[in-house]
Amino acid sequence: MLPEPDVQLCHALASDLRAAGYASAALRDAWGAQADDAVARGLRGPAERALAGRDDALAVLGRLWGLGLTVSRAEADAALPTLGVDGAAALGLVALDADAGRVRPAVLVRPQAFADEEGEVEWWIASDLDEAALGGPLPEDHVLGVGGASQTLARLQLTRRGGTALDLGTGCGIQALRLRRLVDRVVATDISERALRFTRLNALLNDVDGIDTRLGSLFEPVGDETFDRVASNPPFVITPRVEGVPAYEYRDGGMEGDALVATVIREVGAHLAPGGIAQSLGNWEYHDGESGLDRVSGWVGDGLDAWVIEREVLDPLAYAELWVRDGGTVPGTPAYARLVEAWLEDFARRGVTGVGFGYVLVRRPLAGSPTLTRYERVAGGGEAGFGPHLADCLAAHDRAALLDDDDLADSVLRVAPDVTEARHHRPGEGDPSVIELRQGGGFARTIEVDPALAALVGACDGDLPVGTLVDAIAQLMEVDAAHLRADVLPRVRELLVTGFLSFED
Ligand SMILES: C[S@@+](CC[C@H](N)C(=O)[O-])C[C@H]1O[C@@H](n2cnc3c(N)ncnc32)[C@H](O)[C@@H]1O
Repeated sequence: MLPEPDVQLCHALASDLRAAGYASAALRDAWGAQADDAVARGLRGPAERALAGRDDALAVLGRLWGLGLTVSRAEADAALPTLGVDGAAALGLVALDADAGRVRPAVLVRPQAFADEEGEVEWWIASDLDEAALGGPLPEDHVLGVGGASQTLARLQLTRRGGTALDLGTGCGIQALRLRRLVDRVVATDISERALRFTRLNALLNDVDGIDTRLGSLFEPVGDETFDRVASNPPFVITPRVEGVPAYEYRDGGMEGDALVATVIREVGAHLAPGGIAQSLGNWEYHDGESGLDRVSGWVGDGLDAWVIEREVLDPLAYAELWVRDGGTVPGTPAYARLVEAWLEDFARRGVTGVGFGYVLVRRPLAGSPTLTRYERVAGGGEAGFGPHLADCLAAHDRAALLDDDDLADSVLRVAPDVTEARHHRPGEGDPSVIELRQGGGFARTIEVDPALAALVGACDGDLPVGTLVDAIAQLMEVDAAHLRADVLPRVRELLVTGFLSFED
């Protein structure tokens, strides 16, 4: 059954969901925090138990579309006074078991709270029934709901306005909805007609216009159009191309190894307007003698800026187990062992020694603007505020890159409010042997600094220029001021790009 994104019926559904108070916080209250966390892990028993005996609209809708359980027709009709069960069936969201008077969920419709600089929103996102609701492995055409990776990319998106955006591989449409808050028009593409129907339905349900859905692979549906923003959570999972290994549309682009992510990164530059920025999640392979980050740098087109952040690297076995389990095959079964073996054979045959996971930002620089090339490993952070942080870091990079050292010395800087300092002393010794600066937000970076840089950062309170502060520190430490400037200023640039320091005005 395909979702049928009908305008009137979607509005009726939105009205019923609103009237029922069907929202993230209300559901979490209804079934409790622990049960809510369990639902996110795919365990719905505790939530079901918490709702037992309740027949109010929130509980009925929570059972039906929050957990994917059947409810009685009478309960469902009462919970959907405007849409009715027949309307929900016409939208493709339920199936009717007429003899038994039961209503079966055909999809999940979950509330999704989201906050950005534009404010807070609560969306309802329809997607396919998950493993818990299906009671087994997912079908290959499964359309994913809002998962951990979706939320990571949504939070990572730069909070920068633009005219047009592309969401490549839109799935249920979450990135498109997110982008539409910042741009006037979003093109959302997918190879799955089912996914595009979910995207249209979710846009109607949440009263979001300006999302144009297009069917097709990679950049084919957009021809030579260019965009101010591109976001893609592509099907990046590396999957062996052998008989008997399922190829899920939502996570597997049908190419060998990391070729799909490579293609997205290689081709995205041609679809960026000047100053345009693409952000993508990705997996990349490590081969004997070739680091994954070097591999990614080979994919970025000439003349483009790149900032690539690798969050973690998994060894082949850990990678295989992660994705075999994700597909719904349970450890301890023969199928699990067989699939893990297929992954290990594929990796061994192609000389893959590990797989990196991270974020890729590609920018088409404006004429005359500074260029950016950063490939780094950063393991920390991730809870919130990635997008604004990254936007600030990018702006600081661009500004600092236009300053020579004298200009930088004339700049007034301020230490970010989330930065703390840790000093480690050998027992009994007065001077620290290690000084660290730690970032509380952003990517939660920790860097080791020497006493001069620690003193400078501590003194950056938005008052005196950096050069004046460095000269005073040189005097106190009885070292040559010019030498200290030359030593410290490159590191000040790095502290600006990583968000430890910011320009005062
Ligand atoms: C990991 S899901 C991401 C869904 C959604 N954007 C999100 O962030 O949750 C990847 C999506 O890419 C789609 N896809 C797979 N192969 C594709 C291709 N060659 N071109 C475009 N989209 C593709 C899948 O159907 C799926 O909807």
